[in-house]
Amino acid sequence: MRSFADSNGDGLGDVGGLRARLPHLAELGVDALWVTPWYPSPMADGGYDITDHRDVDPRFGTLADVDALLEEAHGLGVRVVVDLVANHTSEQHPWFVAALAAGPGSAERGRYFFRDGRAGGDQPPNDWISAFGGPAWTRVTSPGGAPEQWYLHTFAPEQPDVDWSDPQVQQGYDDVVRFWLDRGVDGIRVDAAPAMAKAPGLPDAGHAPGARFDSHLWQDSPHWDVDEVHAILRRWRAISDGYPGDRAFVTEAVVHSAERLSRYVRPDEMHTTFNFDFLHAPWRAERLRQVIDATLAALRPVGAPPTWVLSSHDDPRHVTRYSREQPAERGGPVSGPADLAVGLRRARAATLLLLALPGGAYLYQGEELGLPEVEDLPVDALQDPTWERSGHTVRGRDGCRVPLPWSGEAPPFGFTATDVRPWLPQPPEWAALTVERQSADPESTLSLYRAALRLRRELPGLAGERFRWDDDGDGSVLAFTRGAGFGCLVNLGERPLPLAGRGVALLSSSPVTDELPPDTAVWLERDPAT
Ligand code: NOJ
Repeated sequence: MRSFADSNGDGLGDVGGLRARLPHLAELGVDALWVTPWYPSPMADGGYDITDHRDVDPRFGTLADVDALLEEAHGLGVRVVVDLVANHTSEQHPWFVAALAAGPGSAERGRYFFRDGRAGGDQPPNDWISAFGGPAWTRVTSPGGAPEQWYLHTFAPEQPDVDWSDPQVQQGYDDVVRFWLDRGVDGIRVDAAPAMAKAPGLPDAGHAPGARFDSHLWQDSPHWDVDEVHAILRRWRAISDGYPGDRAFVTEAVVHSAERLSRYVRPDEMHTTFNFDFLHAPWRAERLRQVIDATLAALRPVGAPPTWVLSSHDDPRHVTRYSREQPAERGGPVSGPADLAVGLRRARAATLLLLALPGGAYLYQGEELGLPEVEDLPVDALQDPTWERSGHTVRGRDGCRVPLPWSGEAPPFGFTATDVRPWLPQPPEWAALTVERQSADPESTLSLYRAALRLRRELPGLAGERFRWDDDGDGSVLAFTRGAGFGCLVNLGERPLPLAGRGVALLSSSPVTDELPPDTAVWLERDPAT
């Protein structure tokens, strides 16, 4: 929301900016757009700290703007998905303000996790850690200033977790879900879904002091991917099934295996889920193949479509992730010098891979421009709570959230109508990456995305779930066939791969001759009999 386009000249993206740029999304060829939170918020965590789930922050617009957005997007054939943050509220939400005022043991505190501390009250109630660093508990003081109970926050202290066993919470969020479905949204993205239930009694998790929040490693955690989460998802599914049209939920769930992920998309739960294992895989054929196989195998039994994603507003952009020496296993950016030309080349190849796989694909704004991570933002510009919470050791996620470059030769690159500074500074070299510049270049990354998304709709081979690996006998190649003679070949090795006899090239991520160069992908039309 904050980084797409600004219409009112305050340097912050807004609903008006999104409306004005809808034609870009329609021309790109996406089916739907998902908007990160636009609700009233003190912005301690980029809007994921909400004070009113049924309104729009004045910095982003009004409910009337949202209604207009829905109408205009639908007119262009683009569906709209909103963000549902139900693990926590803002500390300034009326529920939490009332809980603080009402004191220990009150019904108001029952909506959250207030507990007495250990060791006479001075130590947190258990050893749970926060996603942004440090303990997951903060102590409050009584109106008279005496130290009092602690409250749980899986994320920043400004984001107290709600207790889903409390009927007031259940009812409150039912109303929120209905509010947005009644307004006509097509889908809901569920934030931090695995955090929403906690093991009874809130037992220790066994986290060492200073442990990193790494949820994909956790099995049988008392505060992550607890089975009671699924009762919440079933509740929402039952609500949305009562609405006309194809309303869809998508969960954000970083859990430890594809099998655990598949539980979020059982027939009476969510329709789809982000698949972060794909995003977190290094640019290595064997790792990507493992993730693809595990995803397909886990989701097939529950009848849910697989999905694929390469970047998000929470992860370093994949151009930059792929620009360095690739680790053997899952991991974020690795150290060593970045070669952004290599990173972009791989990113373009990864896009053709992503869009050729069966199921849904999620794109993060700006990846269609091949934007790299901005790794050198001045520290006084950083806004991600991770920066402060980590004692200035982890810069956080601002580098992937830098406002988009639309046009012109200098910042703000058409992001905002005036010369006001965007909320995060844009690198001057993004002049070469604007939508305007890339629209005029048939070889640009934007042109590649547009062509790939158009073909993805048109080619019969890309419809349906058919998928078969072609045994290529080379561990550095990904080669597969979909239906109706469609094939995809990705060369992740160091040597060119002969193309003779493999089919007719339809689209490639970098120029190909009779060979497929390293770090290149090609879509092929094949003899359907082969
Ligand atoms: C996941 C969101 O994507 C992220 O941006 C946010 O900080 C956390 N959930 C907490 O809401």
